[in-house]
Amino acid sequence: MRRLQVLICRGPECGQKRRSAEVHAQLLRCLRERPLENVEVELAWQSCFGHCTQGPNVLVRPVLPGENSFRLSMMPALAPGAVLYHGVRPLDVERIVQDYLQRGRSSAERTRNKDPER
Ligand code: FES
Repeated sequence: MRRLQVLICRGPECGQKRRSAEVHAQLLRCLRERPLENVEVELAWQSCFGHCTQGPNVLVRPVLPGENSFRLSMMPALAPGAVLYHGVRPLDVERIVQDYLQRGRSSAERTRNKDPER
């Protein structure tokens, strides 16, 4: 079984200003309604990725056997295969996870244009 970790930023910009809790709730709903086949998804919060003006930010990464989970919890963007998505809307998040699973890091790098008024 493949394992993925999805970290959603809940820092002051992503969380309060750009409502990342809606992204989290949408992904949780999708995973409950349509679980992924042979993929275990760990959904968690992150306090900040340092890309605050580009939020809501969501990081997707593989969870690898034997990895140093403490170090990665401090610097998840440095994890092998990690992709940080910017400007994620609730309706984007399921597609992002599917896209990541299907295509992997090389083609998954993307930054949406952001509406700063959202
Ligand atoms: S508040 Fe989300 S990246 Fe900083």
